[in-house]
Amino acid sequence: MIKFKEDTASLRNRINIHSQYGQKDMVKWVSKLVKHKKYLKILDLACGDGVQTIKLSKFLNKRKIKHLIIGTDSNTDLLSIAKKNNKNKNIIYKKLNFDQKFKFKNEKFDLVICLFGIYYSKNIKKTLFEIKGILLEKAQLIFVGPLRDNKLDFNKILENATKRKIPPLIGSSRFDSKIFNEVKKQFKKTKLQKFKNVLKILNPETYLNYMISSVTTKRGVYKSFLKNTTNNQIKIKFNKYLYNFFRKKKYMTITKKVGAIIAEK
Ligand SMILES: C[S@@+](CC[C@H](N)C(=O)[O-])C[C@H]1O[C@@H](n2cnc3c(N)ncnc32)[C@H](O)[C@@H]1O
Repeated sequence: MIKFKEDTASLRNRINIHSQYGQKDMVKWVSKLVKHKKYLKILDLACGDGVQTIKLSKFLNKRKIKHLIIGTDSNTDLLSIAKKNNKNKNIIYKKLNFDQKFKFKNEKFDLVICLFGIYYSKNIKKTLFEIKGILLEKAQLIFVGPLRDNKLDFNKILENATKRKIPPLIGSSRFDSKIFNEVKKQFKKTKLQKFKNVLKILNPETYLNYMISSVTTKRGVYKSFLKNTTNNQIKIKFNKYLYNFFRKKKYMTITKKVGAIIAEK
């Protein structure tokens, strides 16, 4: 069973590093995949602290698509931050756990979107069934997640620095395989679009910071990687490796390779 709880600081930290050091904006790319309609009622699954939801709304406004987004997540800490920061009348937030039955009374959506969350589903078949139930006919589904070759450079550095093997990761080991195939079975016109963003990190502190907020035990993603060791031991080894590296080279990369599964009901 997958146990997962994103903590606020590590999520925010990673997103900040992505937008500060990446050349492209992932949410802008996603917003262009949304099928144009004058008005869209959108369900955003696993919206976290809502920062990406706000961005999505901004980019849809630029495309002159009127919309209402219901941002949802199972983590109430993240949701209360999202609610507190929300000044956008196009967005409302609600608690929703996609491992359980959805509780919408006759409410239907034009689009269900999920950015970096769907692979935490404990039973993707059931989650997709719930999603299908609240989509209008021909409505759109967009899932964004890591491809199997996501962050290979970062993972290699982590393995070399710690002399430990990274096990299959919850997202990249399932997104463009199991999850994609299941969507194909249950939806129409399923396709996968790819996006690459190279983060060029110029100092060891930022790279270390990124590693800590990715590998943190609270996220659970690298859980088995941390077996029989501690976050601190990993940090010390990683730090030593980085300082040696930056003595010879000017920058290190993190190559994000993400995909969007796009489908229709
Ligand atoms: C990596 S974060 C992504 C947050 C946001 N979409 C973004 O891109 O910044 C993953 C999110 O999935 C949520 N999540 C995990 N399991 C969930 C579930 N069963 N139901 C709803 N949300 C879930 C977590 O609480 C977390 O906010």
